[in-house]
Order: sequence, then structure tokens, then C-alpha cells
Amino acid sequence: MAWIVEDRLKQYQPKRSEPYLTAEIKAHIEQKYFPRYPRKQAALLPLFHTIMHTYGYIAPQAIDEAAAFLEISRAQVQDAVTFYEEFRLQPSGKYVVNVCRSISCELCGHQAVLDKIRDVFGIEPGETTDDDKFTLFEVECLGACEQAPCALVNEDLHGCLDPQAFASRLQALPDHPAAGH
Ligand code: FES
Repeated sequence: MAWIVEDRLKQYQPKRSEPYLTAEIKAHIEQKYFPRYPRKQAALLPLFHTIMHTYGYIAPQAIDEAAAFLEISRAQVQDAVTFYEEFRLQPSGKYVVNVCRSISCELCGHQAVLDKIRDVFGIEPGETTDDDKFTLFEVECLGACEQAPCALVNEDLHGCLDPQAFASRLQALPDHPAAGH
């Protein structure tokens, strides 16, 4: 049996003075989600989604703040945030390219899509380009199997991918995504 040792020092992110859970985010969650559920804890996933939409990732400090806000332990928050792969714990590029690796996409050539992205942009899954424009991930089924192979670029689904055409489409994206993407 091998031990997997993580370099926690590299994961260290200094605390910032202003909170991630701003008054605006808290008010949004309190007004929209707290009335729906008997316990604050139930608003954990909507809170994560709000943090992801606002910052693009969930910082360790945001996990602490979420625990305090929802009156649960940090371990409970950490448990949930690490269970779902769409919640990222590190900053990513301006465009997050999620290539589906589940069975339909695998059979229809997801590896060729990944290979083309590696050749053109020089990144493997989990990596970000030097200009911080693209981060690549492999993800499970995107629910669009009839369009395999497919990928989600930020919130836009791209289906029936031709590797070269997809890479060209990515290259043509503006340096800054439009608001809401
Ligand atoms: S297997 Fe790729 S979208 Fe379902």
C-alpha cells in the first residue's frame, strides 16, 4: 500500500482582509434559501454555487466563512465541497474547459479532444495555460450524451466535437469572457 502525500504548503493561501461572503451574498442566501428549509445547513450548495459564480473558485477562507454563516463545522463544509467536482478549490483560468470523459464521450473520441488541446495549448487536465486564459478538466457525464463527444466551456455546452474545430473555436475566444460566462 502506498501513501499519497500532499504538499499542503503549496496549497496555502493567505487570508485576505475583506470577507468572501459579502453582505450581499449573505442577504441573497438568507432571503432566497433560508425560508425554504428547516435548517441553514440546507443552503450549503446554493451558497457554494454563489461563491463559484462570484469568484470562480472556493477559497479556504470562504469555507471557514461558510461554516460560521451556516452554523456547521468546517469539516462538514469541506466534506461537501470536495465531494462535487464542479466546485474548485484553486483559482482557474478565465475559461474552464470541462471535457466529458464518461462512456459515450469516451467511445466517441474524448481522448482526441484532450490530445488536441494538449498539442495546441500545452495543458493537461488540471492545468492552466501560462496566460491564465484556459484551465482544462475532465469531468463525468454532462447529460448531453447524444452530442458526444462534448465539453462545457464555462457555462456553454459544445457538442459533437471535432478536435481541430474545437481547438480553433477556443483560440478565437476573446481574452475576457462576457459577463455571466
Ligand atoms: S457521456 Fe459525455 S455527456 Fe454523457
